[in-house]
Amino acid sequence: MKSTTLQRARDFEARYSPFITPAERPVFHVSPMIGWMNDPNGFSVYKGEYHLFYQYNPYSTKWDTMHWGHVKTKDFIRWEWLPAVLAPDMPYDQNGCFSGSAIELPDGRQLLMYTGVRQSRRKNGKIQDRQTQCIAIGDGINYQKYDLNPVITAEDLPEGGSTQDFRDPKIWKDGDRYFAAIGNRPADGSGSILLYESKDCLKWTLDGVLASCHNQYGRMWECPDFFCLDGKDVLLVSPQEMNPIGLEFHAGNGTVCLIGTYDEKTRHQIRENVQAVDYGLDFYAPQTLLTPDGRRVMIAWMQNWETVNCQPNHIRYFGEMTLPRELSVRNGRLYQQPVRELEKYRGYQILYKNVQFSGSTSLGNVKGRVLDMTVQIRPAAENALYRTFKINVASDGEHSVTIRYKPENNTVRIDRTHSGFPHDIVSVRDFMVRPDGGRIKLRIVMDRHSIELFVNDGEQAATAMIYTDQNADAINFEADGSVVMDVEKYDLIMD
Ligand code: FRU
Repeated sequence: MKSTTLQRARDFEARYSPFITPAERPVFHVSPMIGWMNDPNGFSVYKGEYHLFYQYNPYSTKWDTMHWGHVKTKDFIRWEWLPAVLAPDMPYDQNGCFSGSAIELPDGRQLLMYTGVRQSRRKNGKIQDRQTQCIAIGDGINYQKYDLNPVITAEDLPEGGSTQDFRDPKIWKDGDRYFAAIGNRPADGSGSILLYESKDCLKWTLDGVLASCHNQYGRMWECPDFFCLDGKDVLLVSPQEMNPIGLEFHAGNGTVCLIGTYDEKTRHQIRENVQAVDYGLDFYAPQTLLTPDGRRVMIAWMQNWETVNCQPNHIRYFGEMTLPRELSVRNGRLYQQPVRELEKYRGYQILYKNVQFSGSTSLGNVKGRVLDMTVQIRPAAENALYRTFKINVASDGEHSVTIRYKPENNTVRIDRTHSGFPHDIVSVRDFMVRPDGGRIKLRIVMDRHSIELFVNDGEQAATAMIYTDQNADAINFEADGSVVMDVEKYDLIMD
């Protein structure tokens, strides 16, 4: 049965979303049907298609009482909007249906687990959240909230665990048991990920603490995901209130990948390596799924909380997802590459090999805002290392977004200072790359308002939103010193 709150959201979507024209939107990245979008939710395989839900406020381009929006795809590139699935219409979720995940049940239905938020006013006048985990079950279009909601509550928390910060369940199945990783704020005020277990996905018991932050990587850990990949057990979390650490982690909301081994006995992840997930400006709350052909694919919110109110007024929706990315673990590090399906949408190949230059140059037909371009660089002579190499994209003389590589200190910089943001926001990010005698491979995927950079076949990724006018589509290259460059460029075409 659809509640009037959900029906109202669906009516609103149907009535107003046609006013947003395709030209205003990204071509192959997910954007909300209307209004506001944040975290990816319920990224899953269901009946042979990939489903993605999202944190959603259909009624405005600002965050407010959360619903779940819905899209699906067969190939991660061409997405179809479906009507909203969850609305805040029950006492236990009246202040929002927060993030969660999805899984197909043995009987063919799909189960969503999400965080229900209910607020109350304390005696001292302060508003307090109570967050619990809730379930809805459906057929890929309509979902019915479970009669016995909420299914995981304050009673299922370890001692000292906060009921205000208890959210974002990620569920998976292992053998005949279901597991859920859920973010919580323990007594020390930082973050931890709790592990729950169930036989039927409805009745849950606490297993233990999968991982704890101890105030080392930020505080409250949001949106966990936990999976086995290439022999390692990988935990992704999105901490709030991070302090910067070198060039690895920036301040504020970050994304952290903890690579290690899961100890079945203690139900704890033994940590071996910790790194950022994305080194750019706009990336948060990633979630993954496992494809039928065995690929671990990740998608994330391509925004950051600090700048949500900073987009230009002419953009009539808010929020986009990143391109889905294939993950792997090599040498103890997380690698990510755009899903291979993207290559089906490549137009003609523009190829330049062994272009030697110093100063600045541009190349015929190398331009555009919806493209997939790989640039490989090396020094022109063995013993003459160049100082900097730059790619300027989304350029028109006045504007440009710059990717700069400095071999001398092994850093890459992404700089969107001149990308059309009408606010004084953080626009530059530097990060370390592997030293390789001035050789580097930079793959850039652009889709109107975004740029996603993949360094050295996925050793690092860096993502940024850019709002530069679409006519700013020139690309040019600069080298301080002499370089040799190969450029392979495709327009991405969706007909
Ligand atoms: C992360 C987050 C989640 C929460 C959701 C609310 O971006 O804060 O922890 O469930 O957004 O929209």
